Amino acid sequence: MSTPVQKLFDLTGKTALVTGGSRGLGLQIAESLGEAGAKILLTSRKAADLEEAAAHLQERGIDARWVAADASNPADIQRVVDEAMQRLGRVDILVNNAGATWGAPAEDHPLEAWDKVMNLNVRSLFLFAQGVAKASMIPNGGGRIINIASIAGLAGSMEVKFIAYGTSKGAVVNFTRTLAGEWGPYGITVNALAPGFFPSKMTRGTLERLGSERLAAASPLRRIGDDDDLKGAALLFASAAGKHITGQILAVDGGVSVVHAGG
Ligand SMILES: NC(=O)c1ccc[n+]([C@@H]2O[C@H](COP(=O)([O-])OP(=O)(O)OC[C@H]3O[C@@H](n4cnc5c(N)ncnc54)[C@H](OP(=O)(O)O)[C@@H]3O)[C@@H](O)[C@H]2O)c1
Repeated sequence: MSTPVQKLFDLTGKTALVTGGSRGLGLQIAESLGEAGAKILLTSRKAADLEEAAAHLQERGIDARWVAADASNPADIQRVVDEAMQRLGRVDILVNNAGATWGAPAEDHPLEAWDKVMNLNVRSLFLFAQGVAKASMIPNGGGRIINIASIAGLAGSMEVKFIAYGTSKGAVVNFTRTLAGEWGPYGITVNALAPGFFPSKMTRGTLERLGSERLAAASPLRRIGDDDDLKGAALLFASAAGKHITGQILAVDGGVSVVHAGG
């Protein structure tokens, strides 16, 4: 007996923890999963932004809560996992989205900035996955992990100088594949989205410098990402519709990565 497709994409009764959920791509993904029926727990550092983001989701009829924490701090990550278990009872979906970049020529890139980027963009994904899997997904017999990589993790870049960021996103790509191989037997799928350019606080300066229109013109679809473009792909990975998909890296980039080298 096959399942109706609306039911395959329905997240009613599911719970999702979204890191970096206070704005940008994390908030877009939280909207998608919440609109599909999941209860949402957002986390990032600034309480005021989280409160605003949760109110935005609640206005759309979504059950949304938040917890402030610094994902570059392992003790904070464990506290978020503990709070998620207390407040949601279980975590079915983990969206590992919090991330940061640092612009500097490789020859002058500060070590401190390298560590900051790697600890947030790579180490925190590992610690969130480990914490959530141990507390909830493994004992419950399954779950969905969605890592946010980037097209900067698929190739190098000549225009944007961000050696730590590009390295970290390359690591997210193979972290995704490696974990998918290891945790498949637990019923946990692990996939990654690799966005191209989307307007956000992180990309504001780069988009101004390189020009949104020029970047759009260089993509096969002649556009950059918008407030809807990650919603469908995230829901596919998060829902029963994606239950046979694991270890995949899906570029959501208007086709940029199939015609150019990198971000
Ligand atoms: N926008 C793009 O074009 C694009 C393209 C490819 C990939 N991505 C990836 O998508 C993800 C989201 O990026 P975005 O563009 O939405 O950026 P953004 O607008 O800067 O949002 C980043 C989010 O992460 C949180 N965050 C930053 N540092 C944190 C920390 N130490 N601990 C916990 N939370 C932290 C921020 O909140 P606080 O500052 O309050 O902590 C915010 O919620 C990142 O992984 C990024 O690399 C973005």
